[in-house]
Amino acid sequence: MNLNEIAKKMCAKGKGILAADESTATIAKRFKSINVENLEKNRLNFRQILFNSSAMKDFIGGVILFDETIRQKTTLGPTVPELISMSNAIPGIKVDKGAKLLAGSNDETVTEGLDGLRERLKEYYKFGARFTKWRAVYKITDKLPSSQSIKSNAHALARYAALVQEAKMVPIVEPEVLMDGSHNINKCYEATANVLHECYNELEIHKVDLKGTVLKPNMIIPGSECKDKSSSEEIAKKTLECLKKNVPKSVPGIAFLSGGQSEIEASKNLNEINKINDTNFLITFSYGRGLQASALKEFGKNQSNIENIQKAFNHRAKMNGLSSKGEWSEDLEKESLA
Ligand code: 13P
Repeated sequence: MNLNEIAKKMCAKGKGILAADESTATIAKRFKSINVENLEKNRLNFRQILFNSSAMKDFIGGVILFDETIRQKTTLGPTVPELISMSNAIPGIKVDKGAKLLAGSNDETVTEGLDGLRERLKEYYKFGARFTKWRAVYKITDKLPSSQSIKSNAHALARYAALVQEAKMVPIVEPEVLMDGSHNINKCYEATANVLHECYNELEIHKVDLKGTVLKPNMIIPGSECKDKSSSEEIAKKTLECLKKNVPKSVPGIAFLSGGQSEIEASKNLNEINKINDTNFLITFSYGRGLQASALKEFGKNQSNIENIQKAFNHRAKMNGLSSKGEWSEDLEKESLA
């Protein structure tokens, strides 16, 4: 498969991406919330339960892994990437080394991990990865995101993407404008537009072939502490408009992060976007919390009840699969839970 074919398979209609690439520190937070000890065997167990569930075949085009996970052998026999490939999903890998404080700034970060990346990519390819992820993070305040953060992160994302394509993998370009704060939806639109514009400017300078990339953006939503709530219709309209104006048409797939939305909100908003999608972009999900929150809760109740954990995951994956086609509804949400 060439890079364009891989990108399209990751985002195929009815399917999306499972972001299971929480770093050891992030999964520690998730496990703490359900009172599970953050041990390697628990991390493997939770993930292999998801990767072995029936929804993988029907609704998941790709899975993003963390460095530890791509090297693990499941207790079922195959390695983690082999287990994922068995359901015809594509294994991927997070390759950035996290967001680090920008010099000269108190509040903003630049994502690091370019040193030695060419060598690491070769290793990940051998493990079976065919796509990668790099996440840049931007905060909104009255004055932020600054041009320092917008420019430095776009530059790093573009250098990353060029190296990944050289290694014959598809780069997921993830510029995440955080929903933390009391800003309104228009402020989110403006910040996201500026961020996307600069990212595609740098991707062009670095000669990245956009046909072999996937964009992983935030939706255009009000800050989590904003008093003016927006309807899903408004979120969908503004999100699609922002993407149409700032993402080149040659990008084949756009897979949103859930970014702290509830599972239902993330499904509902994605569904509304696809209902009005009049572009050629394949628009889908690349959710972490939006796909795993219910399953994680079940895991916290009883780690050995594989059936219940998989039931919760299968349901969310199915709902988001429907949203990727604009076919989700609140009725279906209830029906298939019953
Ligand atoms: P959330 O969907 O939980 O935001 O995670 C997606 C992700 O991969 C963030 O980098």
